[in-house]
Amino acid sequence: MDRFYITTPIYYVNGSPHLGHAYTTLVADSLARFHRAMGQETFFLTGTDEHGDKIVQAADKAGTTPQALVDANSAAFRDLWKRFGITNTGFVRTTEERHKRCVQAILQKVFDAGDIYHGEYSGHYCFGCERFLTDKELVDGKCPDHQIAPELISEKNYFFRMSKYQGWLAEHIKANPGFIRPQRYEAEVLSMLEGGVLEDLCISRPKSRLTWGIELPFDTDYVCYVWFDALLNYVSALGWPEGEDYRAFWPVVEHLVAKDILKPHAVFWPTMLKSAGLTPYRHLNVHGYWLVRDTKMSKSLGNVVDPLTMADKYGLSAFRYFLLREMQFGSDASFSEEALVGRLNADLANDLGNLFSRTLTMTSKYFQGQAPDGQVETRDNSEILELARTAMENYQAQFAECVFSRALESLWELVRGLNKYVDSRAPWTLAKEGRTEELATVMATLLMLLRKIALHLVPVMPEAADEMLAQLGQANAGRGTLKDELCSWTRIEPGTEIAAKSNIFPRVDLAAEMAAAPAKSEAASKPKAKPQVKGEAKKEQAAKAVSASEELAEVEFQDFQKLDLRVGMVLDAMPHPDADRLLKLTVDIGEPAPRQIVAGLAEFFTPEQIKGRLVTVLANLKPRKLRGLESQGMVLAVRTDSGMELLTPSGEVKTGSKVS
Ligand code: MSP
Repeated sequence: MDRFYITTPIYYVNGSPHLGHAYTTLVADSLARFHRAMGQETFFLTGTDEHGDKIVQAADKAGTTPQALVDANSAAFRDLWKRFGITNTGFVRTTEERHKRCVQAILQKVFDAGDIYHGEYSGHYCFGCERFLTDKELVDGKCPDHQIAPELISEKNYFFRMSKYQGWLAEHIKANPGFIRPQRYEAEVLSMLEGGVLEDLCISRPKSRLTWGIELPFDTDYVCYVWFDALLNYVSALGWPEGEDYRAFWPVVEHLVAKDILKPHAVFWPTMLKSAGLTPYRHLNVHGYWLVRDTKMSKSLGNVVDPLTMADKYGLSAFRYFLLREMQFGSDASFSEEALVGRLNADLANDLGNLFSRTLTMTSKYFQGQAPDGQVETRDNSEILELARTAMENYQAQFAECVFSRALESLWELVRGLNKYVDSRAPWTLAKEGRTEELATVMATLLMLLRKIALHLVPVMPEAADEMLAQLGQANAGRGTLKDELCSWTRIEPGTEIAAKSNIFPRVDLAAEMAAAPAKSEAASKPKAKPQVKGEAKKEQAAKAVSASEELAEVEFQDFQKLDLRVGMVLDAMPHPDADRLLKLTVDIGEPAPRQIVAGLAEFFTPEQIKGRLVTVLANLKPRKLRGLESQGMVLAVRTDSGMELLTPSGEVKTGSKVS
């Protein structure tokens, strides 16, 4: 039986869940759903980490007991995962009896193997990290993560002979590419291992200092160090050593963590497993940090993003899509509502939403809302079918390797390819000219491939993808595995009822959303230009052609620097009520509210064609009125022999980026 086991870190319960915790859990959920869709029996574990100094301190502060605090806060995590529809198979708490028994049994095993000894230790202890930091790890004498100078502590403790396994670990990593991924984290760990002698790990805390922990089985004056305790959740939850789940799933375990806890997972954990005689994990998947305006989220800065607010505001599916698409797995990413709305409008509303809704509308119009009986494996279709196969193959391979952003980009190559397919096959012309057979082919192909796209999106956007499938008449249809989708061009059964229209991915008006509930984290990066209109500009157009023969005076570089050129996204477009040649655009240039720009583009673009496009905007042009409507900037365009082209970045660029 093909199986898959994915874990999240078990979260500390001294605070409430935030965007960071939600991201890891949503990614693990997407992975679990993906592997299930690939036909693998899947175990998905999450939980809470409930021992240690921090819990005692938080309980003291709240005037309660550690047990009462962990009960309440662990429930808060479980509740959030329920509201997010997280499909975890297990939930583990380190205060559970089954976990305590497992920790004590493994401690005894490692002790009996001679890998635990009693010794004196003095070192720099960081209460934030709950561990001793080495001199090398300190930055200006402080813990780099908590910005506090650690306390010098000297006491007798128990130590795990981690140094004994240093050589083995380095060899294991080298012999198993992808053991830690992405590769940069593997390199970081190897340089940690090869840069000097690994210290042994202090695994106890004297009860005189801390009682909130699991007692050592071989010395009741001590409790177990919280990390040695916590890491064992990954096996205690499976019923180690005899449990069925342990036998079935441990051989295929993959962990998912952020870079903050790389060392415990990449060094402590595999050496602990080796000493206890358990096999190491298959992959440690490490992601970066979500930042807000390039700064770490923190309560004191007041920039902590509440995941539930975002999911409520924009929809869970859209929120999940954004998180997986926006972060390049392994690197940090910045969270902002502008970026979220930009993606929703461009990728979901514009690319996928438009394709889906026009396919449904045309099926309704040309085939009375029923899937047509058209041939799909025709010569004319070979290109689009090849594109579809490649897109799905890449998506599946990249998803399994945790490169989610690239996987979605691969699938969007098919989405965009299908939009082009519609434009080039022009079903409306086929209908007008009575070419029914070709029309049936085009519509059957679109419906078939949209079904495949929806099936691939189920792991990322479960609700939205299920709704797409329902509108395609597939709510009760059996589903094979995603692998099967690669090698079959099975149409939607001719005659299947297809919904007449769809609005699963509506456009989002950022200005309205921000006005309704301005997010405190989104401080204005730049005040909006104040209108300073003196008179009405008469004949200027927003996009102006300059003939090559026109002589222009040279300008100084400083003069050029006065121009504030930015990349913008056209969120909305409509005809000017009083001028045939003008369009009224709503353009997001990374400010809290989008701009209104009036542009002379109506002869060249319909509003639909310009919506969702990235454009270059002259942002500090004095606002002026064009036929009664204020224009707050200018969209740059180039006149060509056949019309007009917009100046668009050649690659991926965030809205608001400065052009220089
Ligand atoms: N209890 C330990 C983990 C023990 S696992 C055996 C712990 N808990 S934690 O509550 O601090 O969670 C850390 C994890 O939360 C990170 O590794 C990551 O998965 C997630 N995130 C917390 N903040 C984050 C961001 N700002 N961005 C992305 N994920 C982050 O460490």
